[in-house]
Amino acid sequence: MQLFLDTASLTEIRAMWEIGILDGVTTNPSLVAKEGRKFEDVLREICALGVPSVSAEVVATDTDGMLREGRHLREIHPAIYVKAPMTPAGLRATKILAQEGTRVNMTLVFSANQALLAAKVGATYVSPFIGRLDDQGEEGMELIRDIVAIYRNYRFSTKVLVASVRHPIHVLEAARIGADIATMPYAVMEKLVQHPLTDIGLARFLKDWERVPKG
Ligand code: G3P
Repeated sequence: MQLFLDTASLTEIRAMWEIGILDGVTTNPSLVAKEGRKFEDVLREICALGVPSVSAEVVATDTDGMLREGRHLREIHPAIYVKAPMTPAGLRATKILAQEGTRVNMTLVFSANQALLAAKVGATYVSPFIGRLDDQGEEGMELIRDIVAIYRNYRFSTKVLVASVRHPIHVLEAARIGADIATMPYAVMEKLVQHPLTDIGLARFLKDWERVPKG
């Protein structure tokens, strides 16, 4: 399973990249706005670290605009995946971009039928937003179960990228189901690394080590 960070913060990306547990980065317009920097500068710096998959979202809402932005974004760096929304215009743009060899991440997916359409138009990733479904009383993880089952039924190669992850249980459940990727905020990835018993155990080992005769 691949683990992505859902952020545009270079500090956060660098920290996880240096540990060696990061497989990719997803950004969206809201995350980019938080950084207060030019989108392309941020993208270039993330790619320069060597991150192999960096999702960059188009903001046009018509197919021609999406194509224009998508073609521009993909030229920035070979690691760029173009993110397009799940709308009729987004589906049309995804189909054309995919035929041109561009890897597209279809975003804002909230139903299994939408995920089926993303696979049919040749998206490389589909991004179901599970946290936002949970927020309004729906079982986000059920959607992941359905999409994984449907893609297996028809051997679609589109990868399931679990997005809008809010806590480590989301990551655990996504892994149990067999989702390909989970993208998460920095705070969630940090929690995957930490366990209080690891800290307590390490402190005890180091304390006991002081009693071992040296020299
Ligand atoms: O990047 C897309 C998605 O992960 C957004 O998450 O927390 O804004 O619902 P959130």
